[in-house]
Amino acid sequence: MIHKFDVVIVGAGGAGLRAAVEIPKEYSCAVISKVFPTRSHTGTAQGGVCAALSNEEEDSWLNHAFDTVKGSDYLGDQDAIEIMCQDAPRAIIELEHMGMPFSRTKEGKIAQRMFGGHTKPDDPNDPNSKRHSVKRACYSADRTGHVMLQTLYENCIKNNVNFFSEYFITDLIIEDGICKGLTAIDMATSEIHTFQAKAIMFATGGYGRVFRITSNAHVGTGDGCALVYNAGLPLEDMEFFQFHPTGLWRLGILVSEAARGEGGILRNNKHEPFMEVYAPTVKDLAPRDMVSRAIISEIRAGRGILGSDGTYYIDLDLTHLGKKVIDEKIPEITGFARTYLGVEPTKECVPIQPTAHYAMGGIPTNFDTEVLADNSGNKIKGFYAAGECACVSVHGGNRLGTNSLLDIVVFGRRGGKKISEYLKTAEEHTFNTDPADKTRELMNKLLVQTGNEKISVIRRELQENMMDKCGIFRNQADLEQMKVKIKELQQRYCSITILDKSKVFNTDLIETIELGNLLDIAESINESALNRTESRGAHTRVDFPKRDDAGWMKHSFIWKNTTGGDPKIGYKPVVVTQFQPMERKY
Ligand code: FUM
Repeated sequence: MIHKFDVVIVGAGGAGLRAAVEIPKEYSCAVISKVFPTRSHTGTAQGGVCAALSNEEEDSWLNHAFDTVKGSDYLGDQDAIEIMCQDAPRAIIELEHMGMPFSRTKEGKIAQRMFGGHTKPDDPNDPNSKRHSVKRACYSADRTGHVMLQTLYENCIKNNVNFFSEYFITDLIIEDGICKGLTAIDMATSEIHTFQAKAIMFATGGYGRVFRITSNAHVGTGDGCALVYNAGLPLEDMEFFQFHPTGLWRLGILVSEAARGEGGILRNNKHEPFMEVYAPTVKDLAPRDMVSRAIISEIRAGRGILGSDGTYYIDLDLTHLGKKVIDEKIPEITGFARTYLGVEPTKECVPIQPTAHYAMGGIPTNFDTEVLADNSGNKIKGFYAAGECACVSVHGGNRLGTNSLLDIVVFGRRGGKKISEYLKTAEEHTFNTDPADKTRELMNKLLVQTGNEKISVIRRELQENMMDKCGIFRNQADLEQMKVKIKELQQRYCSITILDKSKVFNTDLIETIELGNLLDIAESINESALNRTESRGAHTRVDFPKRDDAGWMKHSFIWKNTTGGDPKIGYKPVVVTQFQPMERKY
């Protein structure tokens, strides 16, 4: 079946929906999603969305931009960061006018809380003075992503956006340097659908499921990024993957940084508040890369708390916050602690461990979300990407908490605007060959292949090895072992037998394709991590412990080797405007 639209957006999280809202009604717009839109992963974002509104205390977009650049360990492109931080207050008021129910101050203004790495100078007249934490994260209790997603979905319905829910994308059709469309499987029937459009936007989210302990929903398998990688296009900065310091122990479910923003404290097995050793000024509100390393360092130094299964965790102490704060400000996460760990957060500490949370790398774009064909700035006509799957790059080596919900609304809107401009003159495309061929071949191959391998076994091995060898602390020997492991798993992948041959909701088939995507993404992460011989942001090489600005203040681009050899790597300079690199101390 062939569908024709002016624009097709893949992904119904915040970036995709915000872009769809922006498309004028005279153009036809479709959003394709592998889950029902309001089940998209944006709905799990908890603690806030960042903007220097100055509602609770004086602040400025320049403070926000400085923090974002420093938080990125000077890998973020400063022109894009300036756009995002300057646009943030407008974006929040716009969401409020769309109907997003923010928590409020006593005066009825949008409430704001502290978050990791968000600071302002002690002396406002001296930007070089010491800095302290500032209340910059706008929030709806600890369900900010949930209410944002519902609001954007309602606005899409108002705008007559067409939704194709539970459609799984399988091919991106780029011919003659133009993005012409894509194919998808309708999961309910296994029927192949072709979408022909003048403009395609990928807003397909992240790939945290490449790791064993993750805060990411099951959908986070990097499908969009993998399709781009397989289309012979580059991915950018794939070595930078963020571990959020506080996932529920053994489960990885997010325990929002809002808990520490409201005063929660991390404690080791001596009940010591250890963050003051690692970040004396902002302590528990240091950026995530630092807090995650501190937690693992405490555990490795023998100061972790031994759990019933022989693994170690750290305590998140909320007991001093009182029932009122816990119930009003962080009801969701404290509910998770009760439900999943049987812990009462008003009386007991919550066991936590770092959890794979956010991909800083992804599909390279400019700040109008146009996808880059290479590291020289050339573009693929008609192709756009926004949100976690994209690398603008506003997060560089390490994202600050609450900047992702901001990223999706700022760049989702910019993408929608750019697409609308493009549609004024864009022509309809025709396909050179039958666009469904590749998907038909893929399905036939996977459904008939036989062997002794199981999806669940290969996926578990991939996730566990990525966690151990390509996680928070990395070194050459581990990364080389991981490279061999990925090659082995890619070979074994060809011996998976799909037992379910039916057409109705064949989740075995979908999970097999997702696993192929995870293997490709793991290859790009590991290879980029092996290549970058320095430590910066979330990429910590214990064999190269220092940041090396002379050698490495550059973005890495990686291309898949479609003939089976090693991927190719190239570089792109970082854009510096007003913030010169300095030592990153908090
Ligand atoms: O901790 C959190 O609430 C997560 C926020 C984020 O990733 O931006």
